[in-house]
Amino acid sequence: MSDISFYREEFLNYLESNLSKKEPVNLYEPISYILQLGGKRLRPVLVLISTEAFGVSYKKALDAALAIEVFHNFSLVHDDIMDDAPLRRGKATVHEKWDINTGILSGDAMLIKAYQLFENYEVHQFKELAKLFSRTAIEVCEGQQYDIDFETRDDVSIEEYLTMIEYKTAVLVGASLEMGAIVANASKSLQKEIYDYGRLIGIAFQLQDDYLDAFGDPETFGKQVGGDIIENKKTYLYLKALEKLSVEEAEQLRHLYTILPTDNAQKVETVKHLFEESGAAEKTREEIANYTEEAFQLLEKLDIKSAQKNLLRDLGESLLTRTI
Ligand code: IPE
Ligand code: IPE
Ligand code: MG
Ligand code: MG
Ligand code: MG
Repeated sequence: MSDISFYREEFLNYLESNLSKKEPVNLYEPISYILQLGGKRLRPVLVLISTEAFGVSYKKALDAALAIEVFHNFSLVHDDIMDDAPLRRGKATVHEKWDINTGILSGDAMLIKAYQLFENYEVHQFKELAKLFSRTAIEVCEGQQYDIDFETRDDVSIEEYLTMIEYKTAVLVGASLEMGAIVANASKSLQKEIYDYGRLIGIAFQLQDDYLDAFGDPETFGKQVGGDIIENKKTYLYLKALEKLSVEEAEQLRHLYTILPTDNAQKVETVKHLFEESGAAEKTREEIANYTEEAFQLLEKLDIKSAQKNLLRDLGESLLTRTI
């Protein structure tokens, strides 16, 4: 049986063979840079495993997997501009290493490249893949806009937050698995079922990302720890803390998210303390476990090959203990 590292290696080989050293270098170098910076390669691995879960060789899914990873990396390049993030995977973000205009245009080219990869599929699969991809990509944009809008709103609800992370993150995880099902010509109902599994895992994944953004180890996380706090992101941690804190402390937290602080490090420390003390940090860990459990219940019922079902469970479990 192939394990997760096998699919990851196969994907990395394919990625490498597709990186081109073309001109203009200021368009293509940033693309190679971000794509070779590492990362967990979660989404492309899901595409490959899903295809094999429906009995078809992962080799048929390499272009779809590459499309998903190129799209994901495009979204990170633009996300880092929007979030004013200095670090990605332990290295300088594209707009820091080059500049914002370079990040915008290289990102645009990656989005187009992602679409182009679907041209390698026969016509009926091309249509289905492109349709799913377009819907998903628009939803990611919607989620990203909500995320930015929420920075300056003080009345965001937990329900709105959950919709926002479903759009910006979870739909792409779901789409990765559904693409595998499309490549394998699985039935519509199976496509939908495996998508839903990915959607739930994706919600847990973003909750965990938000948790690590505050409480992760700067040595392993690869991004600026506390970046969400500095950017006033209305995460689950923040919204739960407001719910649980005393009136005075909730007011203090709200205040910290409306002023321009003189000392960001001090703000991060104070906010993290409030997240812990209120029980919001613990509640976030519980929610991550709940969504993962809900996902696993769907997975159990899925009519797919047991070897790949086990891999999907292992992968889901490994996300719970991740440090990056
Ligand atoms: C980062 O995604 C963006 C989110 C949706 C949280 P990953 O955590 O999968 O990033 P890499 O690709 O492993 O670096
Ligand atoms: C990003 O969410 C989701 C997308 C890139 C679409 P975040 O802003 O939390 O991702 P990170 O933490 O920068 O990776
Ligand atoms: Mg970000
Ligand atoms: Mg963001
Ligand atoms: Mg984040």
